[in-house]
Amino acid sequence: MTRKKTVCESRLEMAQVMFPSDANQAGNVHGGTIMKLIDTAAGIAAIRHCRTNIVTASMDRLDFYKPIFVGELVILRASINYVGTTSMEIGVRVEAEEIMTGKVRHTNSAYLTMVSLDKNRKPMPVPEIAPQTDGEKRRFKEGRARAKRRRELRKKRNNTDNP
Ligand SMILES: CC(C)(COP(=O)(O)OP(=O)(O)OC[C@H]1O[C@@H](n2cnc3c(N)ncnc32)[C@H](O)[C@@H]1OP(=O)(O)O)[C@@H](O)C(=O)NCCC(=O)NCCS
Repeated sequence: MTRKKTVCESRLEMAQVMFPSDANQAGNVHGGTIMKLIDTAAGIAAIRHCRTNIVTASMDRLDFYKPIFVGELVILRASINYVGTTSMEIGVRVEAEEIMTGKVRHTNSAYLTMVSLDKNRKPMPVPEIAPQTDGEKRRFKEGRARAKRRRELRKKRNNTDNP
């Protein structure tokens, strides 16, 4: 049996400066640029956890709390909250830093579900997770509740699509 893994083993922090090509003509960074960075950070954390190919199954609601501008540093922190059988919930926190002043603001938070795939691109079991700190244990419980809600919503949607 694969050993349980800790959250620390897959946690990721990455940062990127925003350039004009990331933004509109007024200097506001595109939502899609941030979404791609969130997906990338979550994907790397997921691969670090299971060391297999993965796909993004879903990203929950994504709000943009504050704008991000060209020249700012975008910092993303991704960590595994919860694992099911073949899926993992990754939480990503995004902050923007004004590099010249060091002022930081929280701009987004997102939950993504990533699914581990075998060589035939079929879902395959992922290692269990061993939450250690109080925060990790709380996020695990909350992640499990969200995974249950997503399953129920999918079931409802499938029943509506195929009555
Ligand atoms: C994600 C995908 C592999 C799931 O395949 P599937 O045949 O529905 O597999 P299952 O029903 O066995 O679900 C596998 C796991 O994914 C979870 N899952 C499936 N669809 C999901 C969704 N929309 N949101 C969250 N979790 C989802 C299931 O709950 C299950 O988790 P568990 O094993 O931990 O209980 C498939 O839908 C797919 O390939 N989607 C396209 C992915 C993609 O192209 N992403 C963008 C590029 S990376």
